Amino acid sequence: MKTTSDLGDLRGKRVLVRSDLNVPLDGTTITDDGRIRASAPTIKGLADAGARVIVCAHLGRPKGAPEAKYSLAPVAKRLGEVLGADVVFADDTVGDDAKAKAAALQDGQVLLLENLRFNAGETAKADDERSAFAGELASLADVFVSDGFGVVHRKQASVYDVARLLPHATGDLVSTEVDVLRRLTKDPERPYAVVLGGAKVSDKLGVIGNLLGTADRLLIGGGMVFTFLAAQGHEVGKSLLETDQIDTVKGYLERAEKEGVEIVLPVDVVAADAFSADAAHEVVAADAIPADRMGLDIGPASSALFAEKLADCRTVFWNGPMGAFEMEPYAAGTKALAQALVDITSRGALTVVGGGDSAAAVRQLGFADDGFGHISTGGGASLEYLEGKELPGLTVLEEGDA
Ligand code: 3PG
Ligand code: MG
Repeated sequence: MKTTSDLGDLRGKRVLVRSDLNVPLDGTTITDDGRIRASAPTIKGLADAGARVIVCAHLGRPKGAPEAKYSLAPVAKRLGEVLGADVVFADDTVGDDAKAKAAALQDGQVLLLENLRFNAGETAKADDERSAFAGELASLADVFVSDGFGVVHRKQASVYDVARLLPHATGDLVSTEVDVLRRLTKDPERPYAVVLGGAKVSDKLGVIGNLLGTADRLLIGGGMVFTFLAAQGHEVGKSLLETDQIDTVKGYLERAEKEGVEIVLPVDVVAADAFSADAAHEVVAADAIPADRMGLDIGPASSALFAEKLADCRTVFWNGPMGAFEMEPYAAGTKALAQALVDITSRGALTVVGGGDSAAAVRQLGFADDGFGHISTGGGASLEYLEGKELPGLTVLEEGDA
């Protein structure tokens, strides 16, 4: 894959950069700007080289038409603050405003286009629709830099099709992310543990299946844990449960045993009588959840067990919170897990926090980015990479220039 330095002298060139600026918003307030900060160095590097930088990105999942709440306008403002330079904002993506502002750009200036997904062509299933939209994007620029790691698993116009229309290079963020993932998959230093959390086991089946062949330990927390407990024959009360996955999970437990992969499940959980911060809650044994309670976090004995299982690890990948951490009574498990990772990082282990949501969670809980080896900007993308899937946005970069 070519890097930006292979693109030659960029002074005066129009460079289209695909970034992942899909940040969480509360109204128009950005609640975690991690993806903006992670994307800024590539943009700054191009601007410093004298390029006329045209950044494109998506926010949320609008349905192919403009919707004010998904506007990238607040992101343009924050990006400008991070870059320490004005960012011009176009209020459409490939329309008159975008064209005029792209044409007026001076060397070293940065333009952010409005949300790509306000255009149906961006996410269209039909190749010709996507490529028509990619053609409009491509007509704004001379070269393309792919730097939106969080979307490289999406076969979308600005990720995949546009790279087939313009000379292209891989941005520094994507290169860094892929290097780290390669270290996890190609001969990781052992013991190698993977910690998975989050609500649904059905989202993670593929990666669990693949990890049974590479990881030494698999620690499971979050809502998905109850399907595991049910597969072991335990009562889970009102907890999240995917009954249609119980048999698959049973199969995984058997396979893990056969392949010598240790699966570590919580031994206690915080059980509440409602999904709410002020619900009555108590710590109960994981195999004795009362019928009228739901598990909303792993308990203190589980946190200690998880920390112990991570203490000697040399490589750890973590995706997904251990509980409903947004509510204070159920945040302790996720906090303890993050602390265990920080501790082993300081002893030289490679720790990777995978994903926008998990990254936002650790920052929200007060952890500094540099406490971990690497905080990935792409949850879905890194899981698909670990699953061994082909990522269209990376494959197209390997194909060579248009
Ligand atoms: C993300 O937030 O996971 C990435 O930005 C990709 O967004 P998507 O899941 O809506 O494609
Ligand atoms: Mg996502």
